[in-house]
Amino acid sequence: MATQRTLSIIKPDATNRNLTGAINAKFEEAGLRIVAQKRIRLSRDQAGAFYAVHKERPFYDELCEFMCSAPVVVQVLEGENAIAMNRDVMGATNPAEAADGTIRKEYALSIGENSVHGSDAEETAKQEIAFFFSELEIVG
Ligand code: CMP
Repeated sequence: MATQRTLSIIKPDATNRNLTGAINAKFEEAGLRIVAQKRIRLSRDQAGAFYAVHKERPFYDELCEFMCSAPVVVQVLEGENAIAMNRDVMGATNPAEAADGTIRKEYALSIGENSVHGSDAEETAKQEIAFFFSELEIVG
């Protein structure tokens, strides 16, 4: 498996509880490198555009309101098989189903306030990284 890049977001429930460092320690312990990172406050429109794929879902409005309720940390993780590795380290979307030792098992509050987002496939990773970062901002 070649080296991949994936987009990671540390969500408002986690930045509110000062968990950025604890969460990033999990990524780094798993061998993922943080090759770009910024702390930003999304507007409602930006959150809506990022999650446009979920526009028809019943939780879309709640998700967008949550994502712009406090700062997020957006970052690019790089490593062997990074997309799947990141998803393993995050754990299942619903913390009630997440495996022991995963970020969501340890820190998520609910399926909505689930501490982290990660790209789900190569094409989405490319799109999601380009949503937040220019090539100049990614330093491997
Ligand atoms: P994320 O990986 O960021 O991708 C979409 C998000 O929608 C997901 O994590 C959850 O936080 C959120 N989500 C998924 N299902 C629900 C749900 N049933 N209710 C509220 N939010 C949800």
